[in-house]
Amino acid sequence: MNVIRFSDLCASGKAAGQRVFIRADLNVPQADDGSITEDTRIRASVPCIQMALDAGAAVMVTSHLGRPTEGEFKSEDSLAPVAKRLGELLGREVPLVAKWVDGVAVAPGQVVLLENCRVNKGEKKNNEELARKMARLCDIYVNDAFGTAHRAEGTTYGIAQFAPIACAGPLLAAEIDAIGKALANPKRPLAAIVAGSKVSTKLTILKSLSQNVDQLIVGGGIANTFMLAAGLKIGKSLAEADLVGEAKAVIEAMKARGAEVPIPTDVVVAKTFAADAVATVKKATDVADDDMILDIGPKTAAKLAAQLKAAGTIVWNGPVGVFEFDQFAHGTQVIAQAIAASSAFSIAGGGDTLAAIAKYGIDKQVGYISTGGGAFLEILEGKTLPAFEILAKRAAG
Ligand code: 3PG
Repeated sequence: MNVIRFSDLCASGKAAGQRVFIRADLNVPQADDGSITEDTRIRASVPCIQMALDAGAAVMVTSHLGRPTEGEFKSEDSLAPVAKRLGELLGREVPLVAKWVDGVAVAPGQVVLLENCRVNKGEKKNNEELARKMARLCDIYVNDAFGTAHRAEGTTYGIAQFAPIACAGPLLAAEIDAIGKALANPKRPLAAIVAGSKVSTKLTILKSLSQNVDQLIVGGGIANTFMLAAGLKIGKSLAEADLVGEAKAVIEAMKARGAEVPIPTDVVVAKTFAADAVATVKKATDVADDDMILDIGPKTAAKLAAQLKAAGTIVWNGPVGVFEFDQFAHGTQVIAQAIAASSAFSIAGGGDTLAAIAKYGIDKQVGYISTGGGAFLEILEGKTLPAFEILAKRAAG
């Protein structure tokens, strides 16, 4: 995809003295007290900001954090913890600016963080007036927010329409390059792990992946729905009974291609969803009415690990169990270690997946770690993401 690259503008001196507006994805997980529990996205955004500062630009950075109500700023929506962490990583203070749409005071060589862009009215629906106002703040708009590239919002799409120059930051460019390289002509077998609790959104994606991959490994709430589709009882586990037909269609589509969706043969269950819940390993055929499936069982994990070790390419999105609780973490740990031990080229993405990679310390053994969740999956689907579409349009003139 042909887009203008910010690195090229900087290298040719075109960013010097310019007002540069960087849309980053600093949407990081937080604990109840607001502290950041995982900062990969902030660290991944630093090179673009540093590049702009080194080039002598006046730098504005913004991001969304969560899904706040527009026009109603609440303290829990604030980017303040992000500003603090960013400051530590950049080795300089990063002032946080509120109510910034009508004007921002920032000089060349300085960086400011603009408060949660999703608090601005019109951001979500890409209101044109808002987009034009934001475009007037800058000479160069840089999209470095791969994690939000699937959203056509004010700061990811609208501003790119109206800014004098609209380009891709180094993270956005690296993401699309790596994912494209891995999936345009993957070494087979290609195994995808799609797991987690966002059942309904991912089922649609699974349907599309079922046309491409050789093994479609499902986990979490998604696996429960597939177990229902395979005629198994799942007790009171999280699942979407109304999507069983869709799950069956995925299983059939895979079978028709000589590919498979491995259904768990054993599971780890509990009577409650709690950190101190007692874990019991059961055959998938023995799940009781009051059981809740919270992980794949050890036999299933070992079988999947063997498949992953034999794969040519692995795509990983989502932990296969409630890995935050140690008694339900075994499946995810085995999968993570199998990916680490495999000679396959592996790409992984999604907030929970990044947390699992960090927990098991396998970041060096994963081929490429994406900062995208939904964006990552939509790329796998073969969709052109809105952020890329508009940058390509602007590059074409
Ligand atoms: C993500 O966490 O996947 C991105 O930051 C996008 O967030 P969103 O789903 O709220 O648009």
